[in-house]
Amino acid sequence: MIDRFPPVTRIPHLLHGGDYNPEQWSPRKYPDLWDQDMRLMKLAGVNIVSVGIFSWAQLEPLEGRFDFGWLDRILDLLAEHGIAANLATPSGAKPNWMAAKYPQIRRVTADGHRDLQGGRHNHCYTSPVYRAKVKKINTRLAQRYKDHPALAMWHISNEYGGECHCDLCKEAFRAWLRKRYRTLEELNHAWWTTFWSHRYQDWSQIELIDRSVHGLVLDWKRFVTDQTVDFMRHEIEPLRRLTPGIPITTNMMGTYPGLNYWKFRDVCDVVCWDSYPGWHTESEMKTASWTAFVHDLNRSLKRRPFLLMESTPSQVNWQQVSPLKRPGLHRTASLQAVAHGADAVMYFQWRKSRGSAEKFHGAVVDHVGHEHTRVFQEVAALGADLKKLDGLVGASNPVETAIIYDWENGWALEAEQGPRNTNKDYARTCSRDFYDPLWKHHVPVDIIDMDQELAPYRLVIAPMLYMVRPGVAQRLQTFVERGGTLVTTYFSGLVNESDLCFLDGFPGPLKPVLGIWAEETDVLPDDREQMVVPAAGHPLGLKARYAARHYCDLIHVKGDQVRVLATYGRDFYAGRPALTVNPLGCGQAYYIASRNDQRFCDDFMAGLIRQLKLRRNWAGTTPPGVSVQRRNNGKQDFLFFLNFTDAPRTIRLNRPTLRDALTGKKAGAALKLPPYGSAVLAS
Ligand code: GAL
Repeated sequence: MIDRFPPVTRIPHLLHGGDYNPEQWSPRKYPDLWDQDMRLMKLAGVNIVSVGIFSWAQLEPLEGRFDFGWLDRILDLLAEHGIAANLATPSGAKPNWMAAKYPQIRRVTADGHRDLQGGRHNHCYTSPVYRAKVKKINTRLAQRYKDHPALAMWHISNEYGGECHCDLCKEAFRAWLRKRYRTLEELNHAWWTTFWSHRYQDWSQIELIDRSVHGLVLDWKRFVTDQTVDFMRHEIEPLRRLTPGIPITTNMMGTYPGLNYWKFRDVCDVVCWDSYPGWHTESEMKTASWTAFVHDLNRSLKRRPFLLMESTPSQVNWQQVSPLKRPGLHRTASLQAVAHGADAVMYFQWRKSRGSAEKFHGAVVDHVGHEHTRVFQEVAALGADLKKLDGLVGASNPVETAIIYDWENGWALEAEQGPRNTNKDYARTCSRDFYDPLWKHHVPVDIIDMDQELAPYRLVIAPMLYMVRPGVAQRLQTFVERGGTLVTTYFSGLVNESDLCFLDGFPGPLKPVLGIWAEETDVLPDDREQMVVPAAGHPLGLKARYAARHYCDLIHVKGDQVRVLATYGRDFYAGRPALTVNPLGCGQAYYIASRNDQRFCDDFMAGLIRQLKLRRNWAGTTPPGVSVQRRNNGKQDFLFFLNFTDAPRTIRLNRPTLRDALTGKKAGAALKLPPYGSAVLAS
């Protein structure tokens, strides 16, 4: 691992660039186009491009016959123009000759059907043949370009994802299970296979699709992650060996449910992700808040700056409807990534392809081919701004609050068949109910999984912590005893790491820290509501009556010290606790027993912010739709003011030390942001 930051030492600036596919434009058919690209890149302030992502068929047009000539030329051109290369390994798409000659490298679907060649991201990650082919081409790339002045970073494959059900994968899964359980006896118990006569007498009987065995579903997903990480380790072996100083990354997909990205943390030198918010398809605030949540997740993976590897400068082409980004929003959305810890703003794609699936996907350079477009001008203006923000490179985001959003917990929740099999909404609960109120108050947040260190935080929120892995409850308890505040909710503490229910009462091992027993869970049809009535003299200042939906735990308080802060208002459980707090050691643990309306979430979180005096990025008032984020480089504070509305906004500053980070000019008493406008101030 390369443990320095920033990892791309040859560029002491924020990175600006994107996916570049010159191989689609052969100089024979499109003379001068590559030179045009260089000219336009300089105009746009591009300092890095990702090359070669899907170019295996150009690099190895026939088996064992390599053609690096075009890539030599491109890397030379980039170096001549002072642009760095984020050189890709091409495993994201395999050439036709390979798929035809080695059918075993093509993926098999869950129902046993082998894919035809086509599309991309369709290889078997277990296949020794594919692994050998990947190793060979990666070795060639590293040997050839290890001393090339353009080589700055490795872009491994592209958006790893999906799964393969071929016999090799089945065998690998069984071997993985043997390692995890050692005996079939252990596995049969962990998977509760006596149910419906699913007991295994031999490892070979384990088939991959049996959705009725939830332990199997979970372990299969864990295996897919581990096998993908193993494939990546295999991919990068020659790169680490031949280019030990070049950082490695692979582009992730936010909350993509197929892979547990925490497992990639130790393989990547730097984390990056591809962000495609659905701007103008729902309220801008909701889109901005969700995007902020995912940026924070990516920063939290290493608790370090990350890279925005892909984003569209205008539209995407894969939504049902993909509106253009309104003027100004490109800059604000890009600065939002930087505000949350990105040291790069990069695009898919540099130039729109002429044909095939992505010809209408947004790009910096449109089919018209010149710079006189609205999108190009906005990109170039942003490039010019980013050049003035060197002080942000490597700067941190000081945080006191964490939300636990845990992939395995999400998988288990998704698989369980319980009282409510629709709208379980785990990600939405974490982001909308708990992150959003913090975001609206400009409180910075890390998004972690349940295995992470809790000591850096004062507040930890663990919504719907259905699964509690070994050791987690104890760590949460220690966190509280040492003065931390824990908030968890309904449908927590039900199962262990194998999806086996805890037997001594829910919320299982969380009972001591929460001081409650959840005896039953009522679930409400979508058109029914329960009511939550705050107790008089509520410590968080809750006064209104709130609506509860979907989930209502019926809980008992255990222990005299636990305080009931709200009760249910209706039905046979009216008067029973709906919100409790357990003072424990120097801290406290809240249990929110029902899924409450947004007003409750807003009021509850606002009360906590006040009670804990959580540090906000901006303590002054802000008009609706403006987000304020903060980064600090040890010497300077950077404040980002981002207007996600289509109306102008004014913010009272009253901080004489603030200066515009781009112009160096003193900020006045009021900051005026145009519609979708943004500003970076420094002090
Ligand atoms: C990404 C992918 C890119 C491009 C882009 C379009 O998921 O990595 O290659 O397809 O989507 O939005």
